[in-house]
Amino acid sequence: MADLKLTDVGKTYGGKVEVLKGINLEIETGELIVFVGPSGCGKSTLLRMIAGLEKITAGTLEIDGQVVNDVPPSQRGIAMVFQSYALYPHMTVRDNMAFALKLAKKSAAEIDAAVKRAADKLQLTEYLDRLPKALSGGQRQRVAIGRSIVRDPKVYLFDEPLSNLDAALRVATRIEIAQLKEQMPESTMVYVTHDQVEAMTLATRIVVLADKGIAQVGSPLDLYERPENEFVAQFIGSPAMNLIPGEVVGTGAQTRVKLEGGVATSAVPTTDAHMGLQVNVGIRPEDLQACGADEAAFTGVVEITEKLGEVTLLYFKAQGGRDPVIAKLPGIHNGMRGEEVCLTAAPEKVQLFANGRSLLYR
Ligand SMILES: Nc1ncnc2c1ncn2[C@@H]1O[C@H](COP(=O)(O)OP(=O)(O)O)[C@@H](O)[C@H]1O
Ligand SMILES: [Mg+2]
Repeated sequence: MADLKLTDVGKTYGGKVEVLKGINLEIETGELIVFVGPSGCGKSTLLRMIAGLEKITAGTLEIDGQVVNDVPPSQRGIAMVFQSYALYPHMTVRDNMAFALKLAKKSAAEIDAAVKRAADKLQLTEYLDRLPKALSGGQRQRVAIGRSIVRDPKVYLFDEPLSNLDAALRVATRIEIAQLKEQMPESTMVYVTHDQVEAMTLATRIVVLADKGIAQVGSPLDLYERPENEFVAQFIGSPAMNLIPGEVVGTGAQTRVKLEGGVATSAVPTTDAHMGLQVNVGIRPEDLQACGADEAAFTGVVEITEKLGEVTLLYFKAQGGRDPVIAKLPGIHNGMRGEEVCLTAAPEKVQLFANGRSLLYR
């Protein structure tokens, strides 16, 4: 059991390169928290600071109410699983998993029981006498996780554990990690990935990192349905949420926004003070649907189509100088290139942003 508390945590490398600042975050016992963000945003750095592998240069880290900034990694009750699983090649699965316990001078009976328990959880029992070279990539990753489970840590840290696996195996191993977490409801896990699907499927809460800090913390569906800012709006979801510039022309319980190609209605409430405000209207590609000309939030000529089988992506010209607008229609649609299409979205699916921030959070 462990909860973690980060207060104003920051990291500066070599006294001058500031990578993270002002990180405030509380993680409760039993949570599976996912850090997600673009490459280089400091995910691994933050995880390594929690593990004690990297010095915390500002703020405090508490585990179970105790400040551990200066506690060495081995005494933090934490286990870390890396992207490269680095098993000992000359040792069997059993010996790889037992290694840390042998070093800690545990009794043979204790080691045997711990290895058996972990192998059972990870479906590795029948592979205990094999060498790593006789295992698949996914099985090797499970052995790496097994090495940490035998130590019964309070907190598990994972740094992109699936990124060396091929696509099919990633999905299978992702589901295994979710099942493993269910078998260990008391253990706290912090999981780093740049893959938003992994984040959405595994996390109890997601922490989106950007610009040296936290862009938003919330449940996966919070981030999808109520992004606080344009960065999160476009980071979660694929293709990214469309942002179309416009002007507020009607306020109240519903807000009307005039766009280049129509008028969008949003369920985000506004007041008279918002009249004339320049906003970006946020609509996910999957929320756009064809409609009659008089209802159109957006009208455009299809420039490119991509038929993916389950869905067809329609690409329209950019509106007001932003990115192309994308609509994702279910099923296969042939020959739409060059056609003019009117699109709308349900008001509760239409987000509003001003200066990069959602009006929902003002
Ligand atoms: N030892 C180091 N010295 C200086 N800069 C570093 C060091 N380690 C990482 N960085 C820098 O810190 C930033 C964050 O790195 P990292 O935490 O690895 O990002 P992520 O895991 O999100 O891809 C990057 O710009 C990286 O170049
Ligand atoms: Mg990293």
